[in-house]
Amino acid sequence: MRPQVTLRRLEEMKAGHEPIVMVTAYDYPTARVAERAEVDMVLVGDSGAQVVLGYDSTVAVSIDEMLVLARAVRRGVRSAFVVCDLPFGSTEVSDEQAVATAVRFVREAGADAVKLEGGGEARLSRIRAIAAAGIAVVAHVGLTPQTAVALGGMRAQGRTADSAARFAREAVAVQEAGASVLVIEAVPAEVVDVVLPALDIPVIGIGAGRADGQVLVMHDLLGITEGKTAAFVKRFAAVGDEMAGGVAAYAAEVRSGVFPGAEHGYTANEAAVAAARDALATPATD
Ligand code: KIV
Repeated sequence: MRPQVTLRRLEEMKAGHEPIVMVTAYDYPTARVAERAEVDMVLVGDSGAQVVLGYDSTVAVSIDEMLVLARAVRRGVRSAFVVCDLPFGSTEVSDEQAVATAVRFVREAGADAVKLEGGGEARLSRIRAIAAAGIAVVAHVGLTPQTAVALGGMRAQGRTADSAARFAREAVAVQEAGASVLVIEAVPAEVVDVVLPALDIPVIGIGAGRADGQVLVMHDLLGITEGKTAAFVKRFAAVGDEMAGGVAAYAAEVRSGVFPGAEHGYTANEAAVAAARDALATPATD
């Protein structure tokens, strides 16, 4: 069996310029797929709000819903490092609230680390508090979908002087606050490249150049997500079409009477068939 991926291993991979592979998963089957593909990190992302729960945005998902997804993923992952997103509203009130939420994800779902979006003052305080509680923190800067409205929408960050400066400051600040890993979303590679030398922790990019590793949403890369996806998504398969084709073929066979065939059922001897017939013909005595 593959050895457990630990924070130490992720740091070694960074030092050895070995690209780190991270992918999202939201249930047992997708966790098994990620594990069989031998990815290094599995993220139970709050993107699950949209891709598996059908909400319009990530802000709608609750702690309890995320915990259900996280527990199912944990059951399917043996060796990859499991990170759980802390959903919107579960850390905003205070450091105490953030620590209590992080503890739930570790204790109730077996998370190896929790992920927290943003790099402003309040976020830094949350990162410090969670790290001080002994829980590994994955920070997330650049485009942060939970607060995208405040950022002007779901758009790339770091493309203007002000935005690039803010991104650079936040990336370094989350590291100083105690984050163990950093996810950078939707920031031009040239801007990320300026900041990378200042970062000792493993940096995972999504639409942010090469960094130390990459993350993509499982349903995007497999082609399950319907409609337009972000520019940084590459489709590696057409699983959604394959699934729809399979269900359509099943429906067609049920409707035409081809399915089920005799081979999809069970056999009984003549006595059993006769007994069923007699039972209908004879009034019940009890
Ligand atoms: O929720 C998520 O899937 C994420 C990744 C896009 C990094 O945060």
